[in-house]
Amino acid sequence: MNRTADSSSKTLSAFQYRNASSRRTERKRLYCEGVTVADLAKRFGTPLYVYSASAIRARFRIFDRAFKGIPHTICYSVKANSNRSVLRLLAALRSGFDVVSGGELERLVRISRKTAAKSVFSGVGKTPAEMRAALKTGILLFNMESEAELHALAACAEGMKKVAPVALRVNPDVPAETHPYISTGLHQHKFGVPMQRARELYAQAAKYKYLRVAGISVHIGSQIRDVKPFTAAMEHVAALVRELREDGHTIRYVDAGGGLGISYQHPDLSDENSISSAEDFAAQVNQYAEAVMGPLRSLKVHLLLEPGRSIIAPAGALLTRVIYQKNNGTKKFLIVDAAMNDLIRPSLYSAYHEIVPAELKEHTPTEKVDVVGPICETGDFFARDRELPASEEGDLLALLDAGAYGMVLTTNYNTRPSPAEILVEGKSAKVVRRRQTVSDLMRLER
Ligand code: LLP
Repeated sequence: MNRTADSSSKTLSAFQYRNASSRRTERKRLYCEGVTVADLAKRFGTPLYVYSASAIRARFRIFDRAFKGIPHTICYSVKANSNRSVLRLLAALRSGFDVVSGGELERLVRISRKTAAKSVFSGVGKTPAEMRAALKTGILLFNMESEAELHALAACAEGMKKVAPVALRVNPDVPAETHPYISTGLHQHKFGVPMQRARELYAQAAKYKYLRVAGISVHIGSQIRDVKPFTAAMEHVAALVRELREDGHTIRYVDAGGGLGISYQHPDLSDENSISSAEDFAAQVNQYAEAVMGPLRSLKVHLLLEPGRSIIAPAGALLTRVIYQKNNGTKKFLIVDAAMNDLIRPSLYSAYHEIVPAELKEHTPTEKVDVVGPICETGDFFARDRELPASEEGDLLALLDAGAYGMVLTTNYNTRPSPAEILVEGKSAKVVRRRQTVSDLMRLER
């Protein structure tokens, strides 16, 4: 490994084990950058979301660099993790943003108008109020998903006498291997307009005085590990760009959406570089970039990308403490203080998250356990029949790769306040969202 890859691999690994010297036993402690997760849990309590600022930056830069061969803007997908400190950090790297609601847009507006202006607005049900807010801000692109939406935007734009730059999100009808709930690019899905109808709808759009055709967009799903479906989608898009240009439309932007998956499995955690190696991520993103850019090469377009998970998931973890252990004769349960309301991915998508102890002691035997939360549902689990180093009540665990679709999907089910969020940089740890209180939860009720 050369030196640059080696040093960025250190920043890329948001979480790493390091040896803790002790005369009696060999121990390794889990760190987020320069602080132990044990220290963070002690200071801020659990359950706790922890993010590494350096890892977010390193991942963004690797992603950006992979597309250097083509004019492009990375529009980080706000839905993956919308904490404003995270957004600010990305805005400072000159990221653009992908928003899907007036609320997400407002988060950007509160950072700065300039930040909000670098956003694309996607989603099948943008309301007129949301469209007006985006028109007022002056965003980069409206990704329109139906004829009805196109008409509604035209009416809003006309009313405000403001021109809206539009793209149609097309549905390329390509299958991508992922969980059915997060696959979006098939004809049967609610997203986009069928390829066959695109030309007719572009013709309609071009007739509106206050709509300006500016691009085309596509997004085939999320957590896609094989890059071939991206190429298939972009081939369809490239063919359509040619047709639309022949029809006289100006297609400057091609928005390729998000969707690049990550590996949630980390078989050798004790190796310092294994949690996320720089080379792995760079190689994977380069492969993805090739897959996306290939079909567009001769087209002279400005490429937009909307990554969420691949930037932020591995940069975050959810810390939780074992409250009790319980053995029912055939099964052992670790009951932890985080639950499905704090991280819903295992319950909702049968998602796998690596679970690792804050302190790894040498010669600790492993045991097969179910890691479950305190919520009154059988679906409230983080792992089933998982072989983990034996732990005790009071031990601290980290659920890895929880930086994306973790905090944003929290609920208050069982009147459980949401965790705090901490942004770590070097040895500094800042609360970027305080823990909710039960009073917070009742504030809006009569
Ligand atoms: N662009 C659009 C239009 C999207 O719908 C999405 C994600 C993205 C970009 C970002 O995709 P990413 O790069 O993060 O894959 N809650 C699920 C994931 C839902 C993804 C929804 N759309 C999960 O926890 O796996």
